[in-house]
Amino acid sequence: MSKIKISVIPGDGIGQEVVPETLKVLDTLAEIHGGVSFQYETHPWSCEYYLEHGIMMPTDGMARLHQTDAIYLGAVGNPKLVPDHVSLWGLLIKIRRECEQVINIRPAQYIEGVTSPLAEPNNFDFIVVRENSEGEYSEVGGRIHSGEDAIAIQNAVFTRKATERTIRYAFELAQKRKGRVTSATKSNGIVHSMPFWDEVFQEVANTYPEIETESNHIDALAAFFVSKPQHFDVVVASNLFGDILTDLGAAIMGSIGIAPAANINLNGKYPSMFEPVHGSAPDIIGKGIANPIGQLWTAKMMLDHLGFEELGSMLFRAIKETIGEGIKTRDLGGSANMKEVIDHIIGKLRLYS
Ligand code: NAI
Ligand code: MG
Repeated sequence: MSKIKISVIPGDGIGQEVVPETLKVLDTLAEIHGGVSFQYETHPWSCEYYLEHGIMMPTDGMARLHQTDAIYLGAVGNPKLVPDHVSLWGLLIKIRRECEQVINIRPAQYIEGVTSPLAEPNNFDFIVVRENSEGEYSEVGGRIHSGEDAIAIQNAVFTRKATERTIRYAFELAQKRKGRVTSATKSNGIVHSMPFWDEVFQEVANTYPEIETESNHIDALAAFFVSKPQHFDVVVASNLFGDILTDLGAAIMGSIGIAPAANINLNGKYPSMFEPVHGSAPDIIGKGIANPIGQLWTAKMMLDHLGFEELGSMLFRAIKETIGEGIKTRDLGGSANMKEVIDHIIGKLRLYS
């Protein structure tokens, strides 16, 4: 029996609703598998925790996370209690940085039964690999003067190490998928960092001759996500470009309530973190109508990452069939509540086994 230790951080808002429900699904999968058990170490770190303790997580919190195999997070943020920059930087971003989760991956896929805003979604299925540690989101820069003389300078930082490992990750992923990597660039406008990005992309591409490659300027690429999303397989992008593209990916899927994400640690020193794209959804807290699919798809990514691809595929099949049968929450145009969706998925998993 292999024991997998998972740090669970439900966080705020609907995170506290969907996370416990989706753990029931993980337990069902463990039962079906027979050879694995998931042990959860659940942490109350959230905005409520902050009000009580003055910090988002205890000082030994990071050390406790390090001792587990993965981090499973709901959502962080309750602007009524704590300003967003305090809660996000004190927990989510702190974990991403200190656990060296240098890559962010977000799949976007047409799911039958989810209405995409695109007229012809044509079964698109791609994944964005985003550099998660530097780039445009750097703390280098500053502001001087005020009024008419005000100056703000924000420097972007591109290291060979981070650029190369991100691009290489995209190629490795493409080898397991459809074999195409698209690079997001803007070397016609950003004349230092983006030509550098393009050079590294080309160098890495040369070592994967079997992978088809292309480079698109970010503006055109954004348009192609809408006009021909089915063309893409793996898209690799810098921090800012990836951030924008992944929201676009979630949007063309049809609901933010289903979009998953993973923050990947590559050096094996610290655990990776799995979290849905959506936030704490303050407008629907306590109503029981939150869509659990984003969190569940996130769980599928965690299972795949931990080497339980078979369980991940089983879970994904149950998710797709459940949506296809019309058992879906209101954000997807259905009338089911969160628990009904979860129960239906668990029922399906039991049938497969
Ligand atoms: P949000 O994603 O929480 O909500 C945006 C809209 O989508 C709302 O109308 C909400 O009801 C709906 N929605 C989101 N998830 C849903 C689900 N699973 N099922 C059904 N409907 C869903 O974004 P918002 O309102 O901008 O942010 C709220 C709080 O969450 C803020 O404090 C923000 O900073 C935080 N946040 C945290 C994130 C994270 O932990 N990774 C990501 C995004 C926002
Ligand atoms: Mg974003």
